[in-house]
Amino acid sequence: MRAILLGPPGAGKGTQAETIVKEFSIPHISTGDIFRKNIKEGTPLGKKAMEYMDQGKLVPDDLTVELVKDRLLKDDCKNGFLLDGFPRTIYQADALEDFLKEIGQSLDYVINISVRKELLIERAVGRRLCKNCGQAYHMSFNKPLKEGVCDKCGGELIQRKDDTKETVENRINVYREQTEPLIDYYTKKGIIVNIDGEKPIAQVSQDIIAALRK
Ligand code: AP5
Ligand code: MG
Ligand code: ZN
Repeated sequence: MRAILLGPPGAGKGTQAETIVKEFSIPHISTGDIFRKNIKEGTPLGKKAMEYMDQGKLVPDDLTVELVKDRLLKDDCKNGFLLDGFPRTIYQADALEDFLKEIGQSLDYVINISVRKELLIERAVGRRLCKNCGQAYHMSFNKPLKEGVCDKCGGELIQRKDDTKETVENRINVYREQTEPLIDYYTKKGIIVNIDGEKPIAQVSQDIIAALRK
């Protein structure tokens, strides 16, 4: 299965990706996660991406597209993939389509998760991540067993730098202007699956898997 997770910041893309990739045995490719890894490692790509991410702006298209193309050529993508947070502009969507055509592939589904703005801010601001393994939690909706400590590995839980109220609001505006048009773009192609992301995490997972199995 070749699919995309589309949705505003805090909609639950990363959370749902965990379940979907297990169910379909495909790799989870999050451009945000790849950028954050590069920032942590201090690579030239990370240095560039950080200038944009810290302000809640999009990293330039050419950088992002090249990164994804390289990733999709890896062996583990032969039987499918789940893209999370890519494409985010019409330019990226066109580039992805051209690239997949070149390698004889096409998309099966675009999973569009919607959530109201007030809830998005609450979710992003309350999110905590494990410094070690990246596992995501939420201070009210998805608590770790012990406050500040990762259930999986015991690592310290930290907040993402771009999860302040102000930056989340910027990210939501950027989403509205540059990413939301993709809903129409993929609806016209007939591959969109619309999901209500306001339900509890497990219910959203069930809805997505049922829609993809149809
Ligand atoms: P990215 O990392 O992709 O961030 P995002 O799109 O802003 O989305 P988030 O990761 O914040 O939210 P999510 O939908 O994954 O929610 P999550 O599951 O964690 O991008 C970051 C930056 O990188 C961008 O701003 C940009 O600068 C750059 N970038 C990335 N891709 C790019 C691209 N293609 N082009 C250019 N630039 C790019 O959930 C959020 C919280 O809510 C968690 O705490 C979770 O536990 C909780 N939660 C989840 N679901 C539920 C639920 N159903 N009920 C209650 N709580 C829930
Ligand atoms: Mg995410
Ligand atoms: Zn951990």
